[in-house]
This record gives sequence, structure tokens and C-alpha cells, in this order.
Amino acid sequence: MRKKEPSILVVGLGQIGYHDAEYMTSRGLNVDGYDIDPKTVQRAIDHGIIRKKAETFEGYDCYVIAVSTHNPTNMLLPSFDALFQTVYRLSIEGKRNALVTIESTVKKGMSRRVEEILGHRLHVAHVPHRFYAMEKEEHGVRQTRVLGGCENCCRRKALRFYQEVLDIPVHIARSIEIAELSKVIENSYRFMEIAFAEELKMFCEAYTLNFTELRDAINSKWNVRILEADHGIGGHCLPKDSQMYVDLTKRALVSSIIDAAKMVDGHYKLRLPQAPSFGMILPSRLLEINATSN
Ligand SMILES: NC(=O)c1ccc[n+]([C@@H]2O[C@H](COP(=O)([O-])OP(=O)(O)OC[C@H]3O[C@@H](n4cnc5c(N)ncnc54)[C@H](O)[C@@H]3O)[C@@H](O)[C@H]2O)c1
Repeated sequence: MRKKEPSILVVGLGQIGYHDAEYMTSRGLNVDGYDIDPKTVQRAIDHGIIRKKAETFEGYDCYVIAVSTHNPTNMLLPSFDALFQTVYRLSIEGKRNALVTIESTVKKGMSRRVEEILGHRLHVAHVPHRFYAMEKEEHGVRQTRVLGGCENCCRRKALRFYQEVLDIPVHIARSIEIAELSKVIENSYRFMEIAFAEELKMFCEAYTLNFTELRDAINSKWNVRILEADHGIGGHCLPKDSQMYVDLTKRALVSSIIDAAKMVDGHYKLRLPQAPSFGMILPSRLLEINATSN
């Protein structure tokens, strides 16, 4: 006899939650959605990717949390208000023994805090997302995902959901902290790589060298791949994820290469044609520029 399919609630129907719901629905699963923005919910209903808006969080087998974790007024900075609003609601309405899978990017220690609030009445896993809208087939919802659980039972439950129900390949993290850090550090690393390309481009401009020529020459080696320098590092993921890492390094290290990368990216943006002015740059101005670029 075929096992009963789990009922799923996706909380947060932005870029990540929308595509999660779309994928799950395409597999014939029962998916409801919730978002604080009514237009976002309506769009998901109109596109047929969720059945309905969840009026209550009661009664679901699996809660997928994909809410924003950046500060709404400064997307450079992390903020976990939406995550904790969702979790407090789950602590009252969530179904006992259900799975809560946090797909939003969080900082180290957040998943255990969520488990504490829920009193392990529900199982908590962290399965950080990675998404590239231009290549949804290869780099969309169904790509190898890092998976960690607060407890063994949480990890087993999440594994069953992702591997058996969703058919998504997973990389199992032995602790939930490794899962949390993997996402944040992966994006910090990408931030650093892009910032290096930006620095090199500015260096070339200063010495009237052709950046592309120099880059091609360097990249002729098998173990080097300098990236293109484009319009500066935008969006919310790279700036805020790398900030979570920098915040952690401050307690352990004297300096961080990511701090320097953020400065380089700020200077680079000021040199772009649309930049407001050149000259002396105050750190507060760099923060402002980072925060408003997308
Ligand atoms: N977009 C990506 O490529 C990407 C990749 C990997 C990880 N992530 C992470 O996934 C999470 C979601 O990212 P996104 O790009 O989908 O963000 P998004 O801003 O597109 O969507 C987030 C959604 O959460 C909703 N929301 C905010 N507060 C809420 C609340 N209290 N209750 C319910 N809904 C609420 C917003 O209205 C919005 O629709 C973030 O943590 C992000 O860092 C995003």
C-alpha cells in the first residue's frame, strides 16, 4: 500500500518558497502557503502552485520555512524577526511530531534556538537553499542540498522528506551547525572571489592595463579562475550571509578577509558610472551603497 503523502505548508512565498511550492505541487503533493504579503499569496494561488492560503498552521505534516532573513530597511544586514514570528506561531499551532525544515539562511545557533522554542515537540532540520533562477533545472529546487538535524530523529525525518518524498539529493551534515555554516561561508567565499575580480579591475584601470587580457592570461592556468567584475555585489544573499560570517569571526579572529572584500566592493561600486561621487569614502557611505544596490 502506498504511504499517505504528507501535507505541506510553505511559509514565505518569495523567490525560494514560491519555487519550492511549485516543485512540490508538480510532484502531486498537497501544498498550502502562507506569506505576510497578500499579493504574494494570491500570485501563488493564481499560478496554481499552492491549494490555498493557510488560515491556521494547525495540522500539517511538514512546515517549510522560507521567509526573508534580511533587514527590510537595510538588506546588507541579517534579521531573524520573520523566522521567529513563524516559529512562535508554530509553537502554538504546529502539529506535534511534524517536521519543521528551515530553508531560509540562518546564522550559527539559530536552528537550536528554534528547537528550544518548540520544545522538540516538532522536529527541526536545516536545509539551506541555493537557487539560480536562470538554470532552474540544474540549479533550482532539485539540486544537492546540505541537510542537518537538531537531533538524530529530526535528521531522519528530514532525510525521508527530502530523499523519498521530494527525490532531492542530499549531503548529510553531521551537525546542524555545519549545515548552518555551510551556506553562510559558501556565500562569503563567493563574495571574496567577486571582490578580488573587482580589485583587479581597479588595479588594471590605475595602471592602464587591459583587465580582460590580464584575466585571460591568468586563467590559462588549470587551478585559477578569476571571475568577471561586473556591477558590484548586489542582492541580499551575498552581503547579508557574508555579514553573518564576519560577525562570527569577530569573536575568534583578529581580522577577516571578508571585511577587506566588503571595502573593496564598496570602492568598486563608487567607480561605476552610476556612482554618485568619487573621492574619500567613509565606511558609513560604503554601508549605504551596499544596502541600496540590487
Ligand atoms: N533567492 C535566492 O536565490 C536564495 C538562495 C538561497 C537562500 N536564500 C534564502 O532564502 C530565504 C528567502 O529568500 P527569498 O529570496 O525567497 O526572499 P524573498 O524576499 O523573495 O521572499 C521572502 C518572503 O518571505 C515573506 N515574509 C517576510 N516576513 C514574513 C513573515 N513574518 N511571515 C510570512 N512570510 C514572511 C516575504 O513577504 C517574502 O514574500 C532568505 O533567508 C534567503 O537568504 C535565498
